Order: sequence, then C-alpha cells, then structure tokens
Amino acid sequence: MTSTQKLLGSSIVRYILTHSSNLYTVRAVTRNPESSKARALAALGAEVVQGDFDDEDSIRQALAGVQILFHNTDFWTTMSDDAEAAQSLTVAKVTAAEPNLEHVVLSTLSDPTTLFQGKYMHNLPYNGKFKAERMIKKEYPELWAKTTRLLVALYHSNWFLPPFSPVKTDSGQLELQNPYSPSSRIPSASPDDTGVVVDAIIRGGQKYHGRTVSIWSEWISDEEKLKVWGHVLGVKAAFKQVTPIEYQQRLESIGFPPYLAQGCLELLSMLGEGVNYVTGGEIIDARTIVDPSYHFKTWEEYVKEVNWTSIL
Ligand SMILES: NC(=O)c1ccc[n+]([C@@H]2O[C@H](COP(=O)([O-])OP(=O)(O)OC[C@H]3O[C@@H](n4cnc5c(N)ncnc54)[C@H](OP(=O)(O)O)[C@@H]3O)[C@@H](O)[C@H]2O)c1
Repeated sequence: MTSTQKLLGSSIVRYILTHSSNLYTVRAVTRNPESSKARALAALGAEVVQGDFDDEDSIRQALAGVQILFHNTDFWTTMSDDAEAAQSLTVAKVTAAEPNLEHVVLSTLSDPTTLFQGKYMHNLPYNGKFKAERMIKKEYPELWAKTTRLLVALYHSNWFLPPFSPVKTDSGQLELQNPYSPSSRIPSASPDDTGVVVDAIIRGGQKYHGRTVSIWSEWISDEEKLKVWGHVLGVKAAFKQVTPIEYQQRLESIGFPPYLAQGCLELLSMLGEGVNYVTGGEIIDARTIVDPSYHFKTWEEYVKEVNWTSIL
C-alpha cells in the first residue's frame, strides 16, 4: 500500500490488520519509516518500508513481491498535476513488472474534461489523478485490466484545509466563504470508511477488475453542514457566497500562488455546480459491497467526534 500514513491509507491499513489479518499481510510504504505515524502502523502489525514516488528504485524495492496494491498519490504534496501523474506512472511501471501482481485498487477522481463538458480544465487535484489514469491505461493496459478505480467523495475533514475552511471575519464572526450557493448539495464522505470498502474489493478480487467503486455517506449542502456544526458546537457561523475573484483573492492573500488559487476555485466551482462522480452509469456504490449493517459516517457524526478548537 502506498500513501499509508494519513487519511485513506491509514484507514485501510488499520481495517485490514484488524479484520483480515488471517488473509493478508500489509506492507505500508512511507517516505519516513521512523515517523510516529509509521511506527504506530508497525505496532499494529504492518511491515513498514521506505519508498518515495520520486525515487523509482526505492519504489521498486518497496513493492517487490506485491500481490495486491492499493495506490494513492497526494496532489497537495507537490501541488502539480503533472508531478502527481508522473508519480503514479512510476508506481505503475514498477508494479506492471511484478510477476505475482493480482489486483490494483487505485484511488482516483473523475475526468474533469468530460464533467461539465470541459468547463473546468484547471481543477488540478482532479487533473493529477485523471492524467495518471490516462497514461496507465495507455502504457500498461494489462495492469489497467486488473485495476479497480476507487472514488471517494468530498472528505468531511476538509474544513481543516484552507481552501474549504470557515474563516474568522474582522468582526470575529465565523464565515464559510465559498463561490457557490449555500444550498448546493455535495457528495461527502469520511476517509475512515475506506478500509471496509477496500477490504471488500480485494476479497472480491477479479469481480472488481475494471470496475469503479464510490464511497459517499450523504449529499449535503454547506447551509446544512453549518446548521449541524453550529448546533453541535453551540457556535454561530454564517455562509457568504463570494464571487470567483473574491474566493481566489482570499487564497492568494494567505499565500496560495495564483495558479493554485485558480485550481482550488475550479475544484470548488465544480462541487458547487453539483458535480456527481459517485453515482450513475457503471459506478458501484460501496454500500452494496460491504456488510449491510456497516454504517457510513455522516457529517453530524464526524462533527461530534472531532476537536474543532483550531478553527474556533
Ligand atoms: N479531500 C478530499 O475531499 C478528497 C476526496 C477524494 C480524493 N482526494 C485526493 O486524495 C489525495 C490525498 O489522499 P489522502 O487524503 O489519503 O492523503 P493524505 O492523508 O494527505 O496522505 C498523503 C500521503 O501521501 C504520501 N506521499 C506524499 N508524497 C509522497 C512521495 N513522494 N512518495 C511516497 N508517498 C508520498 C504520504 O506518505 P508519507 O508522508 O508517509 O511519505 C501520505 O501518506 C489528494 O490527491 C486528493 O486530491 C481528496
């Protein structure tokens, strides 16, 4: 498994070591096996190995002998869609040469050039993932044939990231300032639910080769989120719909370079315009492949369990 230390990856490592350690051993790739997060995964029973997507030899060593790969890259580490795509291509090149490889689960996002007929061409986090897909399909078709695409909806935890976070106005009021309507419903999810879903996908094996699975717990608007948040925490917060320029300027004022502020603007605009990359067509809803009693975490449940002091 790659990208194991934080959100999606750590949920999967933990779930598999807890529920499926009779079937699988888990090898977790990290740039720094000495970090506290890496040590915590090792303490749970993962084999933690060093590997850096930007160092092909280290990835070749880290993935040697792999049978099932979960792979995710992080756009925010490089802040470049081309660099992110190149990282995934390195992983694809290395794993395509692995003789025992049976299955790949790839965390990805939909093609921004087909969503909204290409209106948003600079949605960089989507671009990075989708460019990688396109190259893997073309250069490693056999690998692609064994791959399951995993689509995760907007994380509940995004409010801790500056492009999504409520801000304090000069008058001390907490405000969510987004470039879309407060009533736009956006598919949302908890990364914590990734583990159970990936476990089901790899248990299903070939059944999921070439398929797409999506994880979402609910469609929820910012006004609904604010209502729940305010109620649970006993705080007052408002929504302000800002213009695209105002949104971009806010990000630039806190240090985002213009290209990245534009990328975030396009990401948020697509969400506000009702992007749906989690249902329809051939997409398999994760609910249908896990135990029916499993509950996907809602925004309200997330709000109740998290410490919000850094935002308040
Ligand atoms: N936020 C959302 O709503 C949402 C929804 C769907 C998809 N996504 C996508 O999910 C991605 C982030 O995934 P996440 O949330 O699971 O990430 P995350 O929790 O922020 O973790 C990032 C991981 O990337 C690894 N990593 C970064 N650079 C690396 C490198 N050069 N070599 C090896 N590993 C590297 C890190 O490993 P080490 O530090 O241990 O080396 C870390 O485990 C983003 O690209 C985003 O677009 C986000």
